[in-house]
Order: sequence, then structure tokens, then C-alpha cells
Amino acid sequence: MLSKKYFIKTFGCQMNISDSERIAGILEKNKFKPTSEITKADLVVFNTCGIRQMAEDRAYGQIHNLRKNNPKIKIVLTGCLANREDVRKKLKNKVDIFCEIKNIETIIETLGFSVCHYLDIVPKYSLAHSVLVPIMTGCNNFCSYCVVPYARGREISRPATKIITEIKNLIKNGCKEITLLGQNVNSYNYKKIVFPELLQKIEKIPGNFWIRFISSHPKDFSSELIETIAKSKKICEQIHLPIQSGSNKILATMNRKYTAEHYLDLIKKIRIAFKKYKTDIPCSITSDIIVGFPGETKKDFLKTATLMKKAQYDLVYFGQFSPRPGTVAYKMKDNVSKGEKSQRENTLNEILKKTALSNNQKYLGKTLEVLIDSKKNGLYFGRTRSGKNVKIISTRKNLIGQFAKVKIIKANIWNLEGKTIK
Ligand code: SAM
Ligand code: SF4
Ligand code: F3S
Repeated sequence: MLSKKYFIKTFGCQMNISDSERIAGILEKNKFKPTSEITKADLVVFNTCGIRQMAEDRAYGQIHNLRKNNPKIKIVLTGCLANREDVRKKLKNKVDIFCEIKNIETIIETLGFSVCHYLDIVPKYSLAHSVLVPIMTGCNNFCSYCVVPYARGREISRPATKIITEIKNLIKNGCKEITLLGQNVNSYNYKKIVFPELLQKIEKIPGNFWIRFISSHPKDFSSELIETIAKSKKICEQIHLPIQSGSNKILATMNRKYTAEHYLDLIKKIRIAFKKYKTDIPCSITSDIIVGFPGETKKDFLKTATLMKKAQYDLVYFGQFSPRPGTVAYKMKDNVSKGEKSQRENTLNEILKKTALSNNQKYLGKTLEVLIDSKKNGLYFGRTRSGKNVKIISTRKNLIGQFAKVKIIKANIWNLEGKTIK
């Protein structure tokens, strides 16, 4: 009998990428085989994102004509749009099963498979040397603009023993980089094991590997966490700490529960601690900023610009405010025009380019360990511990998935260039 073919289309963040690895894991355990052509699949799973309207529209675009071309196809919609009533109504003739990711067992049951908790499914990892490991899902913070607490429900932390077992197996199989995932990793708490303690346990797993984590909420970034990271040999010098806005007025309407001053103080503490315990390469700090939140005046926007200059970011993910049904901010007047939002985003991007280049120039002449991800046209591509992309000249063979010592010879805005040294 021919095995059935599946295709998974993933939208959104790393959490969704990791969830899709679990969906692939359970499908392959049940004899499904992947296909790279959506039209050849018997089962298509859309793992959706609802963070902004654009992410939503992309999914609709792809679902739209699918059944027309292949009437027997089974279509599953999971991820962050799965329990939105309006989405279910809109796609009721185009999708067979709607299912929240935490109830993925329902899909599995419907398809006649055995049932287990979705985080217990053995994933089909996309890469062997760099793996995403969820430590918690959901969110309790209810930032006024954000759909995640509605889409993913309340915070649930995964048992530490399960996380450790998964990581031990990965390291045994040659994995070099573990990225711990959660909407707010700093509020990890499983039977009184909190995040710094979890990090310390992971650090003790034998082997040469790097640890990263995303995302961190500034209100929960404790001094204990800073000290744990700074003293660690395996935790990388890269912190993603989303600020969202530099205006305290906007931060309050966003329900972020911290001020710009608290945030800048945290960055100062992180940089001081890293200087004390780690290398002379500064820690890389990255962020998310929402441009044009309802009520953001020119003065509020300029506060964000000032904060960006002070924070000296390495990278920022800008997102123009997009009203999300069901959130508090959906009812607020979206009073910054599209044109103004784009202009503000451009201005902030210019500030970022300056700080990113100046941070990158500090790497010139230094020799760093780089994890090699890929090779193209005779050049290797990898990342430093601080998360910088590096383009590498090397005559060495078989470096993909390995650490290599690289001397940095050029610093650009968005990447570094270097060559391997023995
Ligand atoms: N939990 C993380 C935190 O609190 O920083 C953020 C996770 S969220 C999936 C990723 C980013 O999407 C947010 O940091 C925010 O900048 C952006 N975002 C969320 N809702 C948005 C909206 N309605 N409009 C524009 N950007 C949004
Ligand atoms: Fe969304 Fe806020 Fe939760 Fe982050 S902390 S996922 S922005 S509600
Ligand atoms: Fe991620 Fe989008 Fe959901 S950013 S958590 S997939 S809404």
C-alpha cells in the first residue's frame, strides 16, 4: 500500500516552527511521508499565526484554492488562528479540521492515531546541529495589543525532567545549539523550579554546546537571571529583550508593566555583568518595537528613538501596529496613518543601522568561535555566540554543523565576514 503524503505550512514564530516539528514527528510515526509539493499531499496542515493581519492574510491566500486542485485533500488548520470564531466561519468550507495546537491530539485521534500530550510527541527536528526546545507555552500577560494569550491560552511550563531528557539526547546525537522557547521564558516555573535554576541544570549536561532562549519579558528579568547568564560558559551573549515602546505612557496603555527607565537599567546591569564574567566582546541585545500604537504622538515616538540610541541595539524587529480582534487595543482608535507608521519605522531603522554597524566594528580583528550552518557558492555561513551572521572563507571541508575558529576581517551593518584559522 502506498503511504500517505503530508505537507506542513508554517507561519509565525519559532514556537510554531517547533510545533510543526512535533506535528511532523507524530505523522511520520504513523507512516505519513513528507512531500515538498503541496499539490501532491493527502494531508496539509496549516500551522497559522495571528500576530498581525499580514500573517493571517498569507494563510488565507494559500488555503483558498487548495481543494479546487485536489478535491480529496484533507486540510487541517492549527496554530494561533485555530480557535478564532470568525476564522472558522470564513474557512468552514475550505478546512476539514480546526484544532488548537495544545489539542493536537484531536487531529491525531481524528486521523486514527494514538494520543499523547503534544509536548511529549517526539519531534522531527529540521536541523541536527541547532534545535528549538519548548520549555513553556501560553502567556498570562495580556499586553493590550497581543493575541497570544487568547490564541495559546495561559502559561504552562513543561516538566524540567522532560526538557533535560530531550536536551541530553540531542547533545548525545551531536547537537551544538539549544534554543529554549517560550512566550515569556523568565516566568518558567515547574514545581518551584524557576528559569535560572532550569538554566543551571541544562548547563550541567556534559558536552560542548551553546544555550539560547527567547523571549524574555523585561518585567520578569531578575538579578538572579542576569548573574546565572553572566557566569555561564554555555549560555550565549545574546539577549532578546523586547521593549515595544520608549514612551512610559504608551507602555502603560500596552499593559507592559515596566518603564523605559527600568528597561535601560536592566540593559546596563546585563552589560556590566557580562563584562565582569565574560569575554571582551559586548553582549548583543535585540528587541521588538511596535510602531504607531494607538495614541502614539510624535513626542512618544521620539522617546522610542531616544531609547534606541541609548540601548545600542544589534537588531530590532519592527512591527507596525495591527489591530487584533479580541484584544483590548482592537477597540482603541488606530490613529497613526499607514504613511506615518512607515516613516517612523524608517527613522528607527536608520538609528538601528548606526548602532548595529558600530557594534559590529568592535569584532574587527578578533577571533571567535562560530557555529557553521550552511555552505553556498564556496562560502560558509555561520553565527557567533552573540548571534551575528558571519560569511566565511575557508578551504576546510565538512564544517557544517561544527564549531570553527574564525578571524573577523570585515564588519557590515547586518553581518560580519571572516576566515577560518587553524
Ligand atoms: N512575548 C514576547 C514579548 O512579550 O516581548 C513577544 C512575543 S510576540 C509573538 C512577538 C512580537 O510581535 C511582539 O514583541 C510585538 O512586538 C509584536 N506584536 C504583537 N502583537 C502585535 C500587533 N497587534 N501589532 C504589531 N505587532 C505586534
Ligand atoms: Fe504577547 Fe505580551 Fe504575552 Fe508577549 S508577553 S506574548 S507580547 S501578551
Ligand atoms: Fe507565534 Fe504568531 Fe502565535 S508569532 S505565538 S505563531 S500568533
